[in-house]
Formats: sequence, structure tokens, C-alpha cells
Amino acid sequence: MARAPVVAALSAVLAIAAAAPARAATAEGLARGELLFHIGGCTNCHTAKDGPLLAGGDPLETPFGKFWAPNITPDPETGVGRWSEDDFLRAMRFGKAPDGSAYYPAFPYTSYARMSDPDLRALWAYLQTIPPVRREDRPHELSFPYNLRWGLHLWQWAFHDPTPLQPDPSKSEAWNRGAYLVEGPGHCAECHTPRTFWGALDHSRAYAGGRLGKEVIPNITSDPAKGIGKWSTNDLLGLLVIGIKPDGDFVGGDMAKVVRNGTAKLPESDREAIAEYLRSLPPR
Ligand code: HEC
Ligand code: HEC
Repeated sequence: MARAPVVAALSAVLAIAAAAPARAATAEGLARGELLFHIGGCTNCHTAKDGPLLAGGDPLETPFGKFWAPNITPDPETGVGRWSEDDFLRAMRFGKAPDGSAYYPAFPYTSYARMSDPDLRALWAYLQTIPPVRREDRPHELSFPYNLRWGLHLWQWAFHDPTPLQPDPSKSEAWNRGAYLVEGPGHCAECHTPRTFWGALDHSRAYAGGRLGKEVIPNITSDPAKGIGKWSTNDLLGLLVIGIKPDGDFVGGDMAKVVRNGTAKLPESDREAIAEYLRSLPPR
């Protein structure tokens, strides 16, 4: 048989396979996407107080100026309704917009990039189930030179690592699950790890806390004096379910949202995994 018809037949088969809805959203996939949406805290930044879900947030105050998290509902005009799944993966892993421009790390893609491709796809599928809302984005209000978006390409080149988190085979399954939730979707380091002069996470002081704008961020390493080394697993679970601290106080501010919209909505096994990972963070 001549080679050309074989190739033609093969490409036809491939074309049909590609056109079929290869990854039709299954109930299981959607449930996984929903869990990632919660622990990812998307609503904390992308939903304004009493505003429609994910249609744009309240301003995020930073030392560089005000960021307004955009509308990420499936609305085709003002949201991400025209995006492909690949556009979404590029945004979450590489911090690049469909037009190639770079995102500010105020969008914590620096952590989301630790997520696996299948998880990013599950999250994208779940986002399709959010009602589309027409609401224009507001431009960020940043001071010079931070208002120059092109500078971010350089920043990403210098500081952004887009590789998904690799499991550590020497550790337990729960530890690995906890590491994934904390380092990836949970983006806990984005607040709890101090930053360098360049605004990149200072991994040599991972989870040592510090200041973030006006908020004082606690040290959550296993250091018994500075961190949470004296907390029991139950203390940590109490915090992750209802935000209560061992001294009976409740967390406030941004952490209250992380708990209410995020860790409180996880299955208990995931909170236990997070607790196990946190308790293993080297003291700093
Ligand atoms: C800490 C605040 C914060 C959190 C949490 C957050 N985002 Fe964002 N997000 C932003 C900001 C700010 C931008 C705008 C970045 C820019 O303009 O460079 C953004 C931009 C985006 C964009 C690009 C939209 C566009 O129109 O170009 C997508 C997609 C996105 N976020 C998805 C998500 C998802 C999904 C989650 C949850 C897993 C999430 N974000 C969590 C702050 C946040
Ligand atoms: C948006 C910023 C932000 C993110 C993201 C964040 N935290 Fe926090 N966290 C805080 C702040 C602020 C506090 C202090 C709250 C208070 O005491 O009122 C805090 C407090 C805590 C505490 C209590 C520590 C103490 O000594 O009181 C723990 C434990 C904690 N966070 C764990 C986590 C974990 C785990 C994650 C990721 C799932 C996370 N945080 C994500 C801002 C954040």
C-alpha cells in the first residue's frame, strides 16, 4: 500500500480524535476542580464584598499601588469566556496572558504553577460552571515604574519557576498531599514567606512571616518560640476548620478568608495532610 493514503487515513483518525470532547467534564473531575477552587482562594481576590462571584474583586492594597483582580467568570465580553483551556494553563503556570503579556505576581501564579496540568484542567472545567457576569475590569492604580507591565517579563525570567511540584518519595502520602496543597493551590507562602527587595519569595526564610502591607504575618514554621512548634495537630486542625487559635482567639483579616473559603471546605484528610506538612517545616 502506498504511504500517502495511510498517512491520510491516520490524520483523519487523529483529527476526529482531537475534535471529540476528549475531556468531557465528569462529576468526579468537577468535584476535584471545586476543591482546588476553594483551597486556591480565587474568590478571596476575585469577588468584591457582596459582589457577584468572581466578577472582579475589591482593591488589593500593596506597596506598589492598588490591584483590582479582574472578572474571571465565563462572560465572553468582560470575563474569560473566550479563553481556551490552554490560555488558562498558560496564565496559571507561566503567568502569561493570551496576548503574551506578563501578569503581576499579585496574582499568585508563582504558587499555582506548582499544580499539575490535570488539576489545572479540572479547575478550568469547574470555572465554566460559574455563572457569567458582565462587569468591566478596573485598571490597576500603580506607581511608576511598577505600572510598566513589560518589566514583568524580566522579573519572570529571573524569579519564576513554572515546574509542577514533584512528590518526595521518602515522605508519607499525607505529607506529600499536604506539601502539594500548601505550596500549590493553597499559596500559603505568598503571605507567610517574606520577600526579597525584588518582590520574589525569599526561600531561605520560607514561612518565617513578616509584614505584608499593613498586616503582620505570623511565622508558621516549626520553631517552638517564633513559630507554631508548640501547636499540636489538633490545634492546627482547629485553626484550619474554624480559625480558632490555641489561646482561644480567632484569626482575622486575610487568614479568616483563607479558612472560611478554603481550608474549612476541604475534607478532613486534606486538613490533616496540611497539618502534617506544616509541622515538618524547618524552624526559621
Ligand atoms: C491574592 C489575590 C489573588 C488570588 C488569590 C487569585 N487571583 Fe487571579 N488575579 C489576581 C490579580 C491581581 C490579577 C491581575 C494580574 C495582572 O493584571 O497582571 C489576576 C488575574 C487572573 C487571571 C487573568 C485574567 C485576565 O483577564 O487576564 C486569571 C485567569 C486568574 N487570575 C485566575 C485565578 C484563579 C483561577 C484563582 C484561584 C485558583 C485566582 N486567580 C486567585 C489576584 C488573585
Ligand atoms: C492572604 C494572606 C494569607 C494567606 C494566603 C495565608 N495566610 Fe495564614 N495567616 C495570614 C495572617 C494575616 C495571619 C494572622 C491572622 C491573625 O492572627 O488574625 C495568618 C495566620 C495563620 C496561622 C496562625 C499562626 C499564629 O501563630 O497565630 C496559621 C497556622 C496559618 N496562617 C496557616 C496558613 C496556611 C496553612 C495557609 C495556606 C492554606 C495560609 N495560612 C495562607 C495570612 C495568610
